[in-house]
Parts: sequence; structure tokens; C-alpha cells
Amino acid sequence: MAIKNLKEWKVLEDHYRKIKNVSLRDLFDENKNRIDDFSIEASSIYFDFSKQLVTQETINYLISLAKARHLSEEINKMFRGERINNTENRPVLHIALRNRSNTKIMVDGKNIMDDVNRVIEQMIQFSDKVRNGSLAGYTGKKFKNIVNIGIGGSDLGPLMVAEALKYYGRNDIENYFVSNVDGTHMAETLKKINPEETLFIIASKTFTTEETMTNATTARKWLLSILRDEKAIAKHFVALSTNQQKVEEFGIDVNNMFEFWDWVGGRYSVTSAIGLSVMIKIGSENFIELLKGFHEMDNHFKNAPFEKNIPVIMGLLGIWYNNFFQCETHAILPYDQYLHRFPAYFQQGDMESNGKSVTRDGVEVDYQTGPIIWGEPGTNGQHAFYQLIHQGTKLIPCDFIGFFKPLNNLGDHHPKLMANLIAQSQALAFGKNKEELEHEGVLAPLIPFKTFSGNRPSSTIMALQLSPRTLGNLIAMYEHKIFVQGIIWDINSFDQWGVELGKVLAKKVLQELKSTEKTRLQHDSSTNKLIEKFRHYNHA
Ligand code: F6P
Repeated sequence: MAIKNLKEWKVLEDHYRKIKNVSLRDLFDENKNRIDDFSIEASSIYFDFSKQLVTQETINYLISLAKARHLSEEINKMFRGERINNTENRPVLHIALRNRSNTKIMVDGKNIMDDVNRVIEQMIQFSDKVRNGSLAGYTGKKFKNIVNIGIGGSDLGPLMVAEALKYYGRNDIENYFVSNVDGTHMAETLKKINPEETLFIIASKTFTTEETMTNATTARKWLLSILRDEKAIAKHFVALSTNQQKVEEFGIDVNNMFEFWDWVGGRYSVTSAIGLSVMIKIGSENFIELLKGFHEMDNHFKNAPFEKNIPVIMGLLGIWYNNFFQCETHAILPYDQYLHRFPAYFQQGDMESNGKSVTRDGVEVDYQTGPIIWGEPGTNGQHAFYQLIHQGTKLIPCDFIGFFKPLNNLGDHHPKLMANLIAQSQALAFGKNKEELEHEGVLAPLIPFKTFSGNRPSSTIMALQLSPRTLGNLIAMYEHKIFVQGIIWDINSFDQWGVELGKVLAKKVLQELKSTEKTRLQHDSSTNKLIEKFRHYNHA
């Protein structure tokens, strides 16, 4: 049934009208135990959603909506390996990549855990050898530079995790990530590295992505121009892909290929072979810990009742703001410098998954779907864009993410960092009113400017300390939040047709940019002019 016709939806609409002006001050005053009623602990995560604009009724109504959308059955379908990515006719099984319980997961009559375990073992063997130097470059030098060439999920995942877990990595191994087809990205990277000590990891699910293939070809030429022997390629290039044929065509030996499968979406692939660069940096034991962290959260998502299920509650809160308060965006604000790419990672994770406007049956939706995801680490963001979150006209639900204990215990940096995290959520929730300002002696003309409305919602997500395991918990938590919302909106969160048109048009435009023949351009006047100007400056 169309979502807006569901009685559970209409109940929420009524409820929204009644409580849209609810005050968080009142909610906290009325219920002294609000924090106990609106927080969940699971795995290493403490999830405080008490500063959200919700009552117990709101949560109950949202859970009823989830039940009306058969969320439990849909979760089970994913875990069972049903082909829930209907437009590509594929199962969605990133959960198998970190299934440390090793329970059977059958696809087409085959237990895919055999393949998963085989590739993890291959990765372990390889990364151990790179780390201990028994696998070296063409001239016998140890690998110091690990250059991952990929884009989208084949870049953001390993990049984000390598940054997040840098503390656990070896200092004599440096990760580099080249993604942009802008030659600057490759050129600036090549300036810093010695080819004899460099391992290139070509990461591409399809092995057809133009940016990645262009960067890989440039890296290959550069290496050959210095080492001057084709045999060096086998020593310095490995591939992470689902496409053996294309890997071979590129000239990488299949023995140097780490496989994954079409049931792993690019943006959900960091626990597949795509994580190889991370494993080399942090070691296989830490990488397995990361997988365990994912698996713990997968189990929590699958088994916890909805009212105690962090990804379910996160997803439902997002529905509440997106579809009832009509919020357009959602900010992810990690108070941890190691997590500085976490918002960017989930920008792809969420927006590529839920940026859809037709249902799974292809019917145009008449409601809002995926939010705009954005964010930067605290406290930097406080001195940049928080002004708008506090006093702007837009309501922006925020996630504050932090750790009780630091990894780098420097003076009083950590209490200062955490004081800011806690104070921001407090300021957003409770604001400062006229009476308080008057009491402080603020002059009347300044009162409108110094007033904080409050009632600006946020969740606070804490763990003891950033570790491979807590990071696994955190990533899986957001992945499943995205799943929950996709089910409520009845959209396919696992395809990405929206990126195709631009790719196709770019192919044609590229030919025209390169062409020195003065053929008549047949686009709109804007496109024609841009192409003509490019030709003017480049083919003079
Ligand atoms: O164009 C979008 C996309 O397909 C993403 O979904 C994906 O993560 C990225 O491109 C890279 O794709 P591949 O790993 O096949 O190179």
C-alpha cells in the first residue's frame, strides 16, 4: 500500500500536528528519567536519543510504521541472501563479509562463506608478507607506500577506515589514495613516492570505471618509465575486483587479484577485498577485529527488538524529521580527528543508497526520501557552520559522535573536546530564552540576537575508545540505519542508476573536447559554448 495511505502514517501525521511545538525543556522536566527511557547500549555503543523531539508515543507510532512496512521480514530477507536488489537482480550480502560466526549463507545453492573465508585468508597471507618484507618490489626493496587507486566505495571506504585506524597502523607503511581523474591527484602523489617501494592496489568492483582505469594506466606508465621492465608490473600491481576478465585485460596477473562478488555493493564493500590497503597498514589481527565489530552490530540489528535496536531507532528518527518536520539535511559530527572522513563516507553511503524517487515497483513517490548528509569533525565545525544549526531558520538533526577516552592523551585536550561535544547538544536542545538573558543583564536591544530557540534535535553516540571493533560497530550501525529508511520509503537502497547519465554524456563530450575537427556541435547553447571555449584554449 502507498505509504501515505497507511493508517500508521496518518497516525504519525496527527501526532506530528499535536507535538510539533514540543519543548525539550518540558519533556526533560516532565520525565526525570528521560535519559533512561531514550537511550540504548549495544556492543560498544552508547546511543542517547533523549534530546530528540519525540515522546514515547512518537517512538511507538514510528515502530508501528516499521511493522506495517514488514521491517523484520525485510531484514531477514537481506540476511538470508534473497535478491532484494531487484533492479540488478542481486542479493545484498555485505553482512556475509564479516560473518565471523561463519554460519552458512547460501546463494544459488552454494555456501558463499567458503569464498569469503578464502579471500580473507588470501588477504591475510598477502598483507603479512608485505608487512614482514618477504614480498618486496622488483628491485628487492620493501614496500613503504601503498597506493589505493579507486573511486566512490572503492576509495572512500578504505580511505575513511585507514584514517580512522591510523593509530593502530605501522609508521613505516604509508597509505595513499588516488581517486580523482584530475591529474593533480596522481601527480601530487607520485611526487612523494619511490616506485621501487610502492605497491599499487587497483580497486574497482567493475574494473571499467573511467577515473580508476585512467589513474591506473598513468601509474603503470610512470612505474615502467622508471623501472623499465614489464616484469615489474606483476610485482607492483594488484587488483581488487569482481571482474577477472577486465583485470587480465589490464595486464594484472589473476594471481595478484583479490576477488569479491556482485552481491557486495561498492559503498558497502570496505569489509571485502577492498579493505586490503587498510589490512596492510593495520595488520590482519586488527582488521579481523574490525570485522568482528561489524558482525556484532549486524547481530544486534538482526536480533534486538525494535525499541532497543539502535539502527532501527536511528532510521525511524530520520523518517520523523525527513517526512514530518520536512527537514532536508542531516549532519554527522564526529568529535574525533581520526574520523574526519566519516561524514564523507556516509555521504556516499546514504545519498547513493537512498537518493531515489521511485518505489521498488517503479512508481514515483509522493514523499521525501533520502536526506542530504553532511558534516565535519568537531570542534572545527563549531567555528564554521554551527551558527546556522543554532540560530538559522532550518531544522538540522545532528549526530554527535565521540569517545570517552582518547587515543592520544595530551594534556587536557580530551576533556576540552568532550566538553564541547556535550555542550553543543545541550545548547541546541535547551537554548537560551529572553528571561535568562534578562537575568544575565543583557541589554534589551541585543536580546533577539542572543536568544537561542533550543528544541534543535540531536543524538549523542559514544563509545569507550576508538578501536577497530568500535569502528566496525559504528559503520555497520549507519549502514543498517540506511537499510531501515529504504524499507520504510519502499525504495531500492542498493542500485545507483542515477550516476549513469552523467557518465554516458561525459563520453560524448570527451570526444568533442579532444576533437580538432571543427564539427558542428549539436547540444544546447550553454554546452556548445563551454566545449568551444575549451577547444579554443587547448587546441590553439
Ligand atoms: O558511479 C558510482 C559507482 O558505481 C559507485 O557506486 C562505486 O562505489 C563507484 O562508482 C566505483 O565503482 P567501481 O568500484 O566499479 O570502480
